[in-house]
Amino acid sequence: MRGKFITLEGIDGAGKSTHLAWLAEYLKSRSIALCVTREPGGTPLGEKLRALLLDKDQPMHLETETLLMFAARREHIEKVIAPALARGEWVLCDRFTDATFAYQGAGRGVANEKLGVLERWVQGSLQPDLTIIFDLPPAVGRARAGSIKSPDRFERENEAFFERVREGYLQRAKAAPQRIRLIDASRGIAEVQADLTVVATELWR
Ligand code: TYD
Repeated sequence: MRGKFITLEGIDGAGKSTHLAWLAEYLKSRSIALCVTREPGGTPLGEKLRALLLDKDQPMHLETETLLMFAARREHIEKVIAPALARGEWVLCDRFTDATFAYQGAGRGVANEKLGVLERWVQGSLQPDLTIIFDLPPAVGRARAGSIKSPDRFERENEAFFERVREGYLQRAKAAPQRIRLIDASRGIAEVQADLTVVATELWR
């Protein structure tokens, strides 16, 4: 049986990495064979593209950025995601295409129509079975992250950018309520984990 495809999303500082590690352990404790991966990245070529995309000294046009995100994704689907799902493993992916709609679309201003064309081209009919968006106001995320020693090309963006990204995520959640669950990440870790458990339980239905 094909495995489940789960993606985690949220603005920088939402605590995604902590929650991803917890969810991975939770699923493993339920005897799920799990492939944990991330975007951009997840393959040797994808990780090289990630380094370019995050490099603060590597300026690029917003559409170049978008195309590189999808190039890394094409490789990731082909080499990692699709084979794992076909083997019956579940795939837990740190960011996927909702991040492109939020960051490159809402954040940078690339038209949704263009992103939709690339999405269909690169993914065909592949969509996550479940997407969890960790939502919180950018000011709260920024305060939590503290002063990052060497912020990458995205972490350098101002609060207005992250407000637009957050809004982009909220619109995605509204447009696909069957697939996307919003979790209020401004609360403590225990509350968020309780919500995560409830959401994960839906996957066994
Ligand atoms: P992130 O997932 O936050 O990793 P870390 O926690 O290690 O910093 O970093 C990836 C960055 O890439 C993040 O700022 C969002 C950005 N991104 C996009 O802009 N578009 C995309 O499609 C994806 C997958 C990520």
